[in-house]
Amino acid sequence: MDINSNSNQGAELKVPRHLAVIMDGNGRWAEARGMIRVRGHQQGAEAVRRIIAAAAKAGVQILTLYAFSSENWKRPRTEVQALMKLLGRALTENAQTLNDNDIKVKIIGDVTALSGALQKSIHKLEDLTKDNQRMLLNIAINYGSRLELTRAVQQIAVKVQQGTLKPEDISEDLISRELYAPDNVDLLVRTGGEFRLSNFLLWQAAYAEIFVTDKLWPDFDEAELKRAFAFYSGRERRFGMTSAQIREQAGPGAADKTNIKPEQV
Ligand code: IPE
Ligand code: IPE
Ligand code: MG
Repeated sequence: MDINSNSNQGAELKVPRHLAVIMDGNGRWAEARGMIRVRGHQQGAEAVRRIIAAAAKAGVQILTLYAFSSENWKRPRTEVQALMKLLGRALTENAQTLNDNDIKVKIIGDVTALSGALQKSIHKLEDLTKDNQRMLLNIAINYGSRLELTRAVQQIAVKVQQGTLKPEDISEDLISRELYAPDNVDLLVRTGGEFRLSNFLLWQAAYAEIFVTDKLWPDFDEAELKRAFAFYSGRERRFGMTSAQIREQAGPGAADKTNIKPEQV
């Protein structure tokens, strides 16, 4: 599986450094087949394995997956229980493969609200993979962006109260560093067709390109990931500047962390 082969008419696809995914549509996938929603979540776990492999192969450095939001506790008890069981199983069953593939795993969100067994699996997996270098895989469990920002503000307030930080030294970088996931998102993908963020990475996605696909998460595959990368490759990221300024900056020899080809700019 080569992510860059026979796609985009031979032109190299630009691969985002940080790819974040709202994995939505498991329930609809199951309901459309007359199955219970949990079957959709089970099938979704397969799609998770596929995207991790494809993203790592493509050279994504950070992959952040939205697995369970701080709002998802509002779902029926049986569905929440099934999701927690599935998450626990996925974390233990895939630990060895993730480690063999040099992937570092970090769970983002308030893990203290999770069961003791799940917390144990999380710590084990994070510890096992802590020195891995190829790709950072953030899995958002009991994650909410507002919760993450509130927690960051509380931590900053404590430092100010203790006198170790001056209010005027609070910068954007400092706020980012207090978040579970400090890195800016380059490409945000949402499956299931909804054009909303659902409390995911509000700060980090400030300048993310957004790709929404109608495909339901269990159907997500490498071909769809390539479509997302093709979309991303076609975007001009201006960060507030003009198009002319961007073209000037991207002249020969211009520093660019992604594998963009000069003829694409
Ligand atoms: C996403 O799929 C998985 C989670 C939120 C845990 P959904 O379960 O939200 O699927 P739909 O949106 O109901 O189809
Ligand atoms: C977002 O999906 C959360 C995850 C994918 C884990 P939801 O299905 O919970 O989002 P809403 O409720 O439709 O906004
Ligand atoms: Mg949904």
